Amino acid sequence: MKAWLRWPAAGAALMLVLAPLVVAWLNVRGEEPLSDAVPGPAPAAQIQRGAYLAQVGNCMACHTQAGGAPFAGGRAIDTPFGTVYSSNLTPDMQTGLGRWSPDHFWRALHHGRSRDGRLLNPAFPYTEFTRISRQDSDDLYAYLHSLPAQSQAQPPSTLRWPLDTPWALALWRALYFRAADPSPQGPAGQSAEWQRGAYLVNGLGHCGACHTPRDRLGGLRSGEPFRGGLLPARQGYAPALSDPAEAGVMDWPVEDIVALLKTGINGRAVVSGPMAEVVFRSTRFLQEADARAMAVYLKSLPVQAARTLPVPPRWPAQLQLGRQLYEHHCAQCHGEQGQGVPGAYPALAGNRAVAMGQPANLVRIVLDGGYPPATPGHPRPHGMPPLRQQLSDEEVAAVLSYVRDRWGDGAGPVSSLDLLRDRGTDGF
Ligand code: HEC
Ligand code: HEC
Ligand code: HEC
Repeated sequence: MKAWLRWPAAGAALMLVLAPLVVAWLNVRGEEPLSDAVPGPAPAAQIQRGAYLAQVGNCMACHTQAGGAPFAGGRAIDTPFGTVYSSNLTPDMQTGLGRWSPDHFWRALHHGRSRDGRLLNPAFPYTEFTRISRQDSDDLYAYLHSLPAQSQAQPPSTLRWPLDTPWALALWRALYFRAADPSPQGPAGQSAEWQRGAYLVNGLGHCGACHTPRDRLGGLRSGEPFRGGLLPARQGYAPALSDPAEAGVMDWPVEDIVALLKTGINGRAVVSGPMAEVVFRSTRFLQEADARAMAVYLKSLPVQAARTLPVPPRWPAQLQLGRQLYEHHCAQCHGEQGQGVPGAYPALAGNRAVAMGQPANLVRIVLDGGYPPATPGHPRPHGMPPLRQQLSDEEVAAVLSYVRDRWGDGAGPVSSLDLLRDRGTDGF
């Protein structure tokens, strides 16, 4: 080999050896030595605190299979890269957390590593849970260890090679995951209520897991917090909490935000789809002070417009068909003038869900219908019927284009392509 070639070659070889070491180091730095000691039964007050925290973190939703034992895992979580199954959080010795110490549990939430050191898939939102305090982690642990043990092994994921390898995960984590500072100093000058809200929204509540956009590798775009995220597996769009034209609540009184979190409905909006689940399983249990703290923090988010989509041209024949369909299928509930019926059917006129650039949720609700969550504050909500059987793709596109043309404040029409995308038949 020529002498001048030798140095680059040696450099490349060195890189090949060093890069994996750097990636491995990025994945374990900041971790402390673990104790294996499993404590005895916890005081009742701690178990009760943990039970509440598990509701705020919505742990049960992901960790319970339809019809299965609570917290025994096995629920399929769709990701853009394949399906991951949740694990068993009951204290079973073989298949659950029976042998886990509070240190192991803290490492899973804070560093995203399992008891045996395995790197965990970020479908478990430890990218957010890393901000959970050690005290809250210990309380959650106490609660989970108080549950009846269930024997149920975690099914293997269906990720494709090489995404199912520890190296792919290690690389992903080196790019996108940093364990949070375990004792953070919040920004000076903010009230204790604001700090509490920031902690709940960004940590246990993991609102950003859906509401923050992700890039092609599934990494959260941390520079664009809460700017709106498209959910995997055609579950719809989590609108921007940073944009008052989408889901931003900067201009709402605190009471209205609290009402939305606790009942799923207020005079301005009604939740549906995945957000109805979040309210039903999690935020409706928020203690008044915590709901207010979240509201105060959400109100203070810096305004950042949602990502904009190009607006396609309008098509008069489609709008005419849409008008007929609206009168036949929608007007009896939503009104000739889109005015709705207060407390029963949401208005479409002046509704920001109708005007949103991204039409995924409109398509979703017309095809599948929906129910706002039933909560003590709003016990018997009216539902929207699914129209998948009655309307063709062209008709759904037409009626929604009409609704957007009339009440969408300049939002573009909906095309059959948006419908194909929803059915997942165009490869998205
Ligand atoms: C969005 C869905 C989701 C939510 C919400 C969620 N988890 Fe999980 N969790 C998962 C998935 C999926 C895994 C499996 C990850 C893997 O095996 O790589 C997991 C794994 C875990 C593990 C590691 C278990 C093991 O055997 O290694 C722990 C501990 C855990 N979750 C605790 C919690 C707690 C506590 C909460 C609530 C504060 C919670 N999870 C909320 C989806 C979720
Ligand atoms: C599983 C994904 C998911 C999570 C987690 C989630 N959201 Fe949502 N959110 C959605 C979707 C989808 C919508 C759009 C449907 C709707 O408007 O109800 C939405 C809508 C909203 C809206 C607008 C409601 C309206 O109709 O104007 C607010 C406000 C909101 N979310 C706040 C939150 C907060 C606060 C959290 C954390 C406690 C959170 N979300 C967690 C998916 C999610
Ligand atoms: C039987 C009464 C009924 C009919 C008919 C009906 N809807 Fe609805 N619609 C509802 C209810 C109730 C909701 C609230 C559902 C929820 O929150 O999940 C709703 C929600 C919606 C939303 C979401 C509003 C929001 O704020 O998120 C849109 C858009 C919508 N309907 C459009 C239509 C269109 C278009 C048609 C006709 C093709 C139609 N609806 C027919 C009752 C109805």
